Amino acid sequence: MEALIEAARAARRNAHAPYSGFRVGAAVMAGDRVFVGVNVENASYPLSVCAERNAVGAAIAAGEHEILAVAVVADDGEPTPPCGGCRQVLHEFGPGMRVVSENEEGKRAEWSLAELLPHAFDRSSLD
Ligand code: THU
Repeated sequence: MEALIEAARAARRNAHAPYSGFRVGAAVMAGDRVFVGVNVENASYPLSVCAERNAVGAAIAAGEHEILAVAVVADDGEPTPPCGGCRQVLHEFGPGMRVVSENEEGKRAEWSLAELLPHAFDRSSLD
């Protein structure tokens, strides 16, 4: 988990967050590989994409399909949990995953995704 957090912390330096000023780095563990993402904002605000979703996209594009854990690093008083939309996207690739978050000072929180997204909507609802 330490390596995953450090990957998210390093990636965060590349966040593109000129509008909110809220820089986020994320890293997902898939197989034995780590994939990072950052938030990428846009002048057309709703087109902005969260760090977690960009990390998921990198893992899937590399051929991975199961995410075991996600780390998030942001600068907030409290460790930032993934937003609701990202919880749903993460759930698609690892309903059992661990979620860890640190702020800049290293204050850490950890959850299971199931705790953050109970009663998730998933493919079983589409049967
Ligand atoms: N953001 C993330 O990247 N991940 C989250 O889980 C929460 C929010 C980004 C989106 C936007 O660029 C900025 O943080 C402020 O909401």
